[in-house]
Amino acid sequence: MNLLENKVALITGASKGIGKQIALAYAKEGAMVAFTDLNRDDVMEETEKELLALGVKAKGYASNASSFEDSERVVDEVAKEFGRIDILVNNAGITKDNLLMRMSEKDWDIIMAVNLKSVFNLTHACQKIMIKQHGGSIINMSSVVGVSGNAGQSNYSASKAGIIGFTKSIAKELGSRNIRSNAIAPGFIITDMTAKLPEDVVKGWEKQIPMRRGGKPEEVAKVAVFLASDLASYVSGQVIHVCGAMNC
Ligand code: NAI
Repeated sequence: MNLLENKVALITGASKGIGKQIALAYAKEGAMVAFTDLNRDDVMEETEKELLALGVKAKGYASNASSFEDSERVVDEVAKEFGRIDILVNNAGITKDNLLMRMSEKDWDIIMAVNLKSVFNLTHACQKIMIKQHGGSIINMSSVVGVSGNAGQSNYSASKAGIIGFTKSIAKELGSRNIRSNAIAPGFIITDMTAKLPEDVVKGWEKQIPMRRGGKPEEVAKVAVFLASDLASYVSGQVIHVCGAMNC
């Protein structure tokens, strides 16, 4: 299938993890892929190589999604290099988990900047391009805990809930311009983000998941392909949970 042929995608935080699998899935569907991460390191270069090996135009950019100026710069560079931006995936995100009584102001602020402000930064920069093109698909990586909340993750859950409010607002604001905006709410997905959790915590999560396993980044990527493609041409303002029924 070539569901994304002739489309240009920009994905943040995609040198590894879920973002990388989305980039690869998009390339397999024929999309040209620009992606960002904090540094141009071996990990980024390896991802870039894997994308190029799929026969599509692809390039990794060092850019900090929490910086407004840096986001404007990278969107300009991508638009110049690739000629357009049809799909924006706001994927970059981090955790700084702690109980509220132990949470510092710094850990609150950084989570808001990296997880939530980044979504504003990139969407703000891309909207002009998508409006001129008369279309686009914006996909924001939320989380099931943005819907349900989670003890020890008040900062992270608040940032992911904020993403949902932003996603729905943009769907209403830009719908008349043929720009769709949706969020994905993954459950427990096996990546470096979850690898840093203690084994007993991971086992505890897995027991609570009706499908009795963590998800794979590739399983999130399949939903990101659907939302980016014309298969989802009338799907906007939605939050799609990819969680093995953990949160339903
Ligand atoms: P990961 O830690 O494997 O990858 C995240 C990537 O984002 C890294 O390459 C990192 O360098 C990059 N990044 C961090 N800060 C950045 C910034 N300021 N600018 C640009 N890039 C930055 O994480 P994973 O698991 O792939 O997560 C991807 C997204 O999915 C995140 O938004 C996360 O919150 C979300 N998510 C993950 C879940 C999971 O269980 N792994 C569950 C629900 C949501």
